[in-house]
Amino acid sequence: MKNYRIAVLKGDGIGPEIVNEAIKVLNVTAEKCGFTVEYDEALLGGCAIDATGVPLPDETIAKCKAADSTLLGAVGGPKWDSMPGNLRPEKGLLGIRAALGLFANLRPARIFEPLRDASPLRADIIGGSLDIMVVRELTGGIYFGERGRLEENGVKAAYDTEKYSVPEIERIARIAFDLAMKRGKKVCSVDKANVLESSRLWRETVTEIAKDYPEVELSYMYVDNCAMQLVRNPSQFDVILTSNIFGDILSDEASMISGSIGMLASASLGETGAGLYEPIHGSAPDIAGQNISNPLATILSVAMMLKYSLGQPEASDMIEKAVAEVLNEVRTPDIYVEGFRKVSCSEMGDAVCERIKLY
Ligand code: IPM
Ligand code: MG
Repeated sequence: MKNYRIAVLKGDGIGPEIVNEAIKVLNVTAEKCGFTVEYDEALLGGCAIDATGVPLPDETIAKCKAADSTLLGAVGGPKWDSMPGNLRPEKGLLGIRAALGLFANLRPARIFEPLRDASPLRADIIGGSLDIMVVRELTGGIYFGERGRLEENGVKAAYDTEKYSVPEIERIARIAFDLAMKRGKKVCSVDKANVLESSRLWRETVTEIAKDYPEVELSYMYVDNCAMQLVRNPSQFDVILTSNIFGDILSDEASMISGSIGMLASASLGETGAGLYEPIHGSAPDIAGQNISNPLATILSVAMMLKYSLGQPEASDMIEKAVAEVLNEVRTPDIYVEGFRKVSCSEMGDAVCERIKLY
């Protein structure tokens, strides 16, 4: 029987509770589909700082490298907010992405039919169907560029730099075009080329790569306009290709269309097949430990793992189907509306498991 080794980084805040539910669902799915999973836990973020003094211990990198894939909850919290920048939990997250070479972040934003009523957008704006894939560059740009503090004529200042090389843009663009070929064959490259030089290079490079994909329709959009279009006419988008910072911001925005940020999964991929899978939301320290968070983004991240890293597309579909079905009955508080049963984080995990057992 095929066995997979998964590194598990539960992290901080609601991280442990949502990851526990995702593991429950993965175990049930594995049994159903005839494979086994072994888990290897490691520390990342605030919990790693508390235990070892650093947000990303070497042991964590080693465990992730040895695994078939990594499942991550979320990191950060007020407890560590006053730490210096290079010792913050978020630095651990950026660090593990870089250490594993995960330059491509896939963030699908779509609307599950039963959740239409939970979306803050009017039904006529959402339109018939909505299925956007945000492809975010993940190991370059301003989040990794040179930064610092200085003093100019006695005035304190700080700076961060956005820099992209042609090979960095090329490889993320190829990911976006390859995905588009399997989807709606449309790529919208989002930048700020009317102002930023790095965006102008981005645009030029994407235009070149597009020549290898004559079937894909390429368009360009400035990021400010894209932010508006996402809430004005979101169904115009298929694949959105963009930089690290713009992808961070736009994917949060896109997630709201689907009802809650608690619904959006992500896959981070590099040159090797082993990826890192995590919800796009944060550690939500305000609701941590109360068992009221929404585990579906993490559960859907496991579905992405099965599809993109473990070669188990049927198992992946099973989870997505189960999630879509349970939403007809149960809702965590973030997506709750009258007429449904309000459930806790663990009850939501149970509901998905029970569905899968029925298949
Ligand atoms: C995300 C998060 C992270 C990011 C933070 C926590 C560093 O916002 O995954 O979107 O910006 O990448
Ligand atoms: Mg973010």
